[in-house]
Amino acid sequence: MIAREIKPGIQLIASVHWERRLFDSLIPLPEGTSYNAYLVKGSEATAIIDATDPELSNDLMSQLEGVEKIDYIVSNHTEQDHSGVIPELIEKYPEAQILCSAKAQEMLSTHIGLPEERFRVVKDGETVSLGDKTLRFVYTPWVHWPETMSTFVPESKILFSCDFFGSHLATSDTFVTDKAETFRAAKRYYAEIMMPFRAAIINNIKKLEPLDFDMIAPSHGPVHQDPGFILEAYRKWISPQVANEVCLPYITMHGSTKLMVDHLVDALVKRGVKVHVFDLNVTDIGDLAMSLVDAATLIAAAPTVHVNAHPKLVYAAYVANMIRPKVKYAAIIGSYGWATKQVEQIAGLIPNIKAEVLGSIMQKGLPTAETFAQLDALADAVAKAHAEDPDVV
Ligand code: FEO
Repeated sequence: MIAREIKPGIQLIASVHWERRLFDSLIPLPEGTSYNAYLVKGSEATAIIDATDPELSNDLMSQLEGVEKIDYIVSNHTEQDHSGVIPELIEKYPEAQILCSAKAQEMLSTHIGLPEERFRVVKDGETVSLGDKTLRFVYTPWVHWPETMSTFVPESKILFSCDFFGSHLATSDTFVTDKAETFRAAKRYYAEIMMPFRAAIINNIKKLEPLDFDMIAPSHGPVHQDPGFILEAYRKWISPQVANEVCLPYITMHGSTKLMVDHLVDALVKRGVKVHVFDLNVTDIGDLAMSLVDAATLIAAAPTVHVNAHPKLVYAAYVANMIRPKVKYAAIIGSYGWATKQVEQIAGLIPNIKAEVLGSIMQKGLPTAETFAQLDALADAVAKAHAEDPDVV
């Protein structure tokens, strides 16, 4: 890519990872991703904000050809996709100081091995002048690591937010041009990365709102020329409100659980509840996570393996627990051959999900008329809970 000006004296230096399909050996990236650094040229000094993933270091370094001097390297976030090339930067620019939070210094030392003498720790609210531009540092911890901060340049009305408000989206666009596309990618990003830290996000958005910015420049995906668009999306995702929807991940082995799922889906639809069904054999775990941003209810469905919970449901439950969705109601259904410990095992895996349990239905072998009646009763309970809950919209 080429460096692109997004404000006078401020360039986007994006490394677009078109081919990447997995992050942290865990998170699917169906649309690739990008790592954004930003070059901020003031009348007296120049700063680069964040860097790139080591795999794409050449992208960053080639876009810096001709940049003779960098005075400051701002590290908003120490995860290696933004900090992994700082060792090359401090070698190329021997006078540059690394500006970061105290926690980030500790983490850049332990994770990247950066030398202590290159750091200058900045406090929350501290400013560093570049001449006609000012870097103001705003601590925004836990989006999504403890050391994270944002950098605000008041003269340019731009906020550099690193992962916060970002999206895993490989694109040649500089700015958001397709809001539906960016909304989907940003929601996936929120679901997978940010959702566990909803309380911190609520506080950090309150802290950022008073700042007078008209552009948000994140470290993944296109730049927001309309900050209200992404702020509004975040406000909805972090709000107490949930949707009249059920997220229903399932597995089936010999068809009994699938018969139960099909019956329950129809029963819920008849009662006006939308259902998102995910076959865990083929589901992108990110799609499941996105569904959990909004759904009021989570119903897991699986057969028993020997007497234990199905391993694919165990994995999905572990991930769901990790991302801490705001679901308010839950249930487990499924089948077994001769005995089952599935309900107790799955319940033990999701302590972070503070949901009211609406029931568990475990059927020995094929579902019967009685099983279908139990599923109808579960659908009644879901519809009633949603209808009576003021947070379900
Ligand atoms: Fe994009 Fe948390 O790194």
